[in-house]
Amino acid sequence: MKAAAKLMKVFITRRIPQEGMKILAAAEGCEVSQWDSDEPVPRSELLKGVQGAHGLLCLLSDKIDQEVLDAAGPNLKVISTMSVGFDHLVLSEIKKRGIRVGYTPDVLTDATAELTVALLLATSRRLPEGVEEVKSGGWSSWKPLWLCGYGLSGSTVGIIGLGRIGKYLFRMAIAQRLLPFGVKRLLYSGRTAKSYAAEVNGEFVPLDTLTSESDFIVVSCSLTPETQGLCDKAFFSKMKKTAIFINSSRGAVVNQEDLYDALSSGQIAAAGLDVTTPEPLPTNHPLLTLKNCVVLPHIGSATYSTRGVMSALAAQNLLGGLQGSDMPSELTL
Ligand code: NDP
Ligand code: DGY
Repeated sequence: MKAAAKLMKVFITRRIPQEGMKILAAAEGCEVSQWDSDEPVPRSELLKGVQGAHGLLCLLSDKIDQEVLDAAGPNLKVISTMSVGFDHLVLSEIKKRGIRVGYTPDVLTDATAELTVALLLATSRRLPEGVEEVKSGGWSSWKPLWLCGYGLSGSTVGIIGLGRIGKYLFRMAIAQRLLPFGVKRLLYSGRTAKSYAAEVNGEFVPLDTLTSESDFIVVSCSLTPETQGLCDKAFFSKMKKTAIFINSSRGAVVNQEDLYDALSSGQIAAAGLDVTTPEPLPTNHPLLTLKNCVVLPHIGSATYSTRGVMSALAAQNLLGGLQGSDMPSELTL
């Protein structure tokens, strides 16, 4: 980037891994300011920090809407989010203003698929309950019917949204990890059938079929107006009573009141959630009172290396946008 006259102001909404910071520090003509905290930037500080910025590097917890864009003003050329999900960005407004958007697909796929499978196993084999019983003295002896769960062997797994995380390039990230457990059928639903699904004998089925025939349902679609509230009372009522529900996409795909009812009434066996609405989920939330609901604090991509690569990619996207050149991962608006 060329020197002083073209000084580009960048605002970063959080403390991010050093891999990304180093890239920005080495970029000439870039004046970086940052909300230097592990906690989210307060809205008032975001509105202040973004003023006059040419580039904004944000996270999924920052709602980037008309108010933020107005506060930034006409300089803003690029928004780079350190996430693959972009439901926190009001794209219609961003597009209207000709602002480019970078995001971080692919680099977190493996980590997220791994966590999703871990959550599925923890939920179906009741690991948190077991750990709690050991700690609280509830473990009195080996008992034939105590803490039994559901195994994957011979089961039918249904994946809603066979995208990057549903698959992983031409390996199927979640599917590939589940098949060695002896899964018998793999169903998936979404907007379109995928040619790559043939590699794991994946069957493209209507959502209703997936819902009623699966023993395990994994939600890995993006959050859109069509998927918001997709998993509701009607959805849960079609599931088998022995089925397990896993969500690692976005909390808003699920109607949590309906999920609570389904879990507490025995309509479904258990649920594992890496994502909720809101985040964090209040500690007095009804879902947290249920033994058959495992809730994680949105840690799908949380490995040190993945977060480092995500921050580097977010920084490179930002610089590409500032320089008016290619961005390694630009979202098509
Ligand atoms: P992709 O864009 O590759 O996949 C999204 C999938 O959603 C596509 O297969 C798409 O299907 C499907 N989809 C879109 N609309 C619908 C619909 N109406 N009904 C059913 N399926 C639909 O994204 P990724 O796989 O990379 O990521 C998916 C999501 O996972 C992200 O958007 C993010 O929200 C979440 N995520 C969560 C993480 C965590 O930490 N828990 C980490 C990373 C991502 P089709 O191709 O047929 O349109
Ligand atoms: C994303 O990137 O969208 C995840 O939710 C967090 O990594």
